[in-house]
Amino acid sequence: MSVLVAPSILAADLARLADEIARVEAAGADWLHVDVMDGHFVPNITMGLPVLAAIRNVTRLPLDVHLMIADPDRYLEMFVRSGASRVSVHVETCPHLHRTLTRLQELGARAGAAVNPATPVSALAEVAHLLDHILVMSVNPGFAGQAFIPGSLRKIEQARALLGSRYPAAGVEVDGGIDLTNAGAVVEAGASILVAGTAVFHAADAGEAVRNLRMAAVGS
Ligand code: DX5
Ligand code: ZN
Repeated sequence: MSVLVAPSILAADLARLADEIARVEAAGADWLHVDVMDGHFVPNITMGLPVLAAIRNVTRLPLDVHLMIADPDRYLEMFVRSGASRVSVHVETCPHLHRTLTRLQELGARAGAAVNPATPVSALAEVAHLLDHILVMSVNPGFAGQAFIPGSLRKIEQARALLGSRYPAAGVEVDGGIDLTNAGAVVEAGASILVAGTAVFHAADAGEAVRNLRMAAVGS
């Protein structure tokens, strides 16, 4: 399976967002990862619908929206209408995950479920058939620039195993602390989508960082 690189714009210079996006798009980024935080589910507030809609106008890349918000069901349609190609909801925020994933697919979006470091991958066992991807959080969500939690490698393996040969097209996305030192191991464990914020946008050259990350991932 090929590896996709999804720069997280949370770590970009937000006052120059269109330039930052153009740089990673030109360098071959596959998706843009958009972190939506509400100050309730996670201890930070980032960006929302108007920013997503603005981004939709300046890039052709699929927009991979990571909802770190309480009660995401209230907002699914608005996020899809504002340009989300894919939406990840956190298991921890969805008491009716089966319904939520089904709704996302009805809305025409790709549907993913995210698991916090403390949440077992097995929480997704009964909805595997509804998943376009599993998002394994390799940090506690809320901030860019945190260190990769080593136990995440085992969870990536479990996520790949859960999807197994029955859902080979479904991806395993990993988010948090991804850089050149761990990209290879993460892919070897079964990840097919790498989210990276700091490693891309805090590098001297964001485009080169995307290319280097892909090389580190594929060279594994
Ligand atoms: C963390 C966010 C991540 C974050 C990644 O809560 O979901 O997407 O922006 O940033 P880095 O790569 O710096 O950990
Ligand atoms: Zn994220």
